[in-house]
Amino acid sequence: MGYGEFISLINDSTDKIREFIDHGNSFIVFYHIDADGLSSGAISSVMLLRAGARFITRAVRSINEILETIPYLQSDTIALLTDIGSGYLSILREKFHDKQFIILDHHQPDGEAEKHWIHINPHLCDVDGARDISSSGITYLVSKSISEENISLSPIAVVGALGDLQDKSSEKRELGGLNKMIVEEAVKSGLLKVSDDLLFYGRSYRPIHLALASTTSPYIPGISGSEAHAVSFLNSLKIRLKEDDRWRVFTELSEEEKKIIYNGLMKYLSSLNFSPSIVKELVGKIYELTREEEWTPLKDAREFASLLNACGKTGNEWIGLAIAMGARGEILLQAQKILEEYKRRLSEVLDYLIRRENWQELKHIIAINGGTAIDERMVSSASSILSSSDLLPEDKPLVMLAISGDKVKASARASMKLIRMGLNLGLVMKKAADRVGGVGGGHDIAAGAEIPLAKKTMFLAEVDAIVGEMLKS
Ligand code: C5P
Ligand code: C5P
Repeated sequence: MGYGEFISLINDSTDKIREFIDHGNSFIVFYHIDADGLSSGAISSVMLLRAGARFITRAVRSINEILETIPYLQSDTIALLTDIGSGYLSILREKFHDKQFIILDHHQPDGEAEKHWIHINPHLCDVDGARDISSSGITYLVSKSISEENISLSPIAVVGALGDLQDKSSEKRELGGLNKMIVEEAVKSGLLKVSDDLLFYGRSYRPIHLALASTTSPYIPGISGSEAHAVSFLNSLKIRLKEDDRWRVFTELSEEEKKIIYNGLMKYLSSLNFSPSIVKELVGKIYELTREEEWTPLKDAREFASLLNACGKTGNEWIGLAIAMGARGEILLQAQKILEEYKRRLSEVLDYLIRRENWQELKHIIAINGGTAIDERMVSSASSILSSSDLLPEDKPLVMLAISGDKVKASARASMKLIRMGLNLGLVMKKAADRVGGVGGGHDIAAGAEIPLAKKTMFLAEVDAIVGEMLKS
């Protein structure tokens, strides 16, 4: 089992997909609303468009929206699920076993698919779906197997993988596994350039202090989100912010200046009693889309991903989808505004979170009960950022909750140390959500759930107990 088997699984399925297209079946593409989901939705849409298929698309927040829509589809419509589905095979089988599904997903599968469905998931071949390939990578490999011209979509697969932080577990923020193979294809085709540098946000176009303040991965307490503190920090290091009347940007700094900032951040963190080693997460691979204009967030694949994420999480999925499919001009300007506003709101949420109100240390987990103070659409990004900070202990996973109507949205994150100790958050969230009448699932390192509001306390107790059991065995 491994990469070879996974590629064979893809190749074996493409004839069937081609048959559906040639037969004139129509498709509905469901895609998840985060960066990897939007990238997957865009890749499948371009693939179907180029193949001359009839299709519509639908962005979804959770499996419930798919469950509600399927009964209304015409009988010849094929439901193509990207970045969602594998974790809910038993519900889909129970309700819609006679429908035709194509599921392209990297979440941990829950049971098996019906024999007549197409289910492409790396976990089926012992390939790590949390780190080696994302849903957009899977969708890209399928699209390329349908037609070689879809190699043009390889940079979007890289954007999706970075959006899901698949580079995060590696030493130097580098995509590995099948993602690396896709990166190499994109580089060979002249669509992507890879280099080593410090990963400051907007490194090629934002004034240095703004780039520093906008960087949240890793999260630097006091500086991330604060323009004024970023300015005084850089001033204290005697880094010139301007060249004549023009703001300088990170890519113009000398190696010496970059070293001064890097060491300065280590000292700053030590002075606050945080671990200076967190600064290491700033060093990594830069993935640049060669065909994109300079001065836009689309040039750097990580920023492209955060733009898509902002669109998806604010109800502007179609804008994100259009951008990932290639739309620019006015639509890009709109997306940039959405991104700035999203980053501003996220920074407010992080300010609130680091005050540690509503943090609860249970026996085996850290629970943050955001209630209605945190917009449920921010919980996923906020918990990912917090988990890449030094604010949490390494030996307890984070579970963040936010209320939305009569439901609670939960996002859970774990450290690599806990994964090595046998923790699998996807299973934890699934089990705990099942026990309180909700839905949950995901990856070992990052997972989520939606549960009834009335069961919030019980859910946390279940999560705590299941984590305890898992770490004991
Ligand atoms: O639905 P999906 O698989 O696309 O989302 C994965 C989520 O897991 C993203 O929100 C990403 O930020 C998070 N993640 C994380 N830390 C990792 C890997 C993924 O927070 N090391
Ligand atoms: O929403 P959040 O980013 O916290 O989700 C983390 C991971 O868990 C994502 O991959 C998401 O798709 C997955 N998830 C899931 N089922 C849910 C909620 C989240 O599979 N009900």
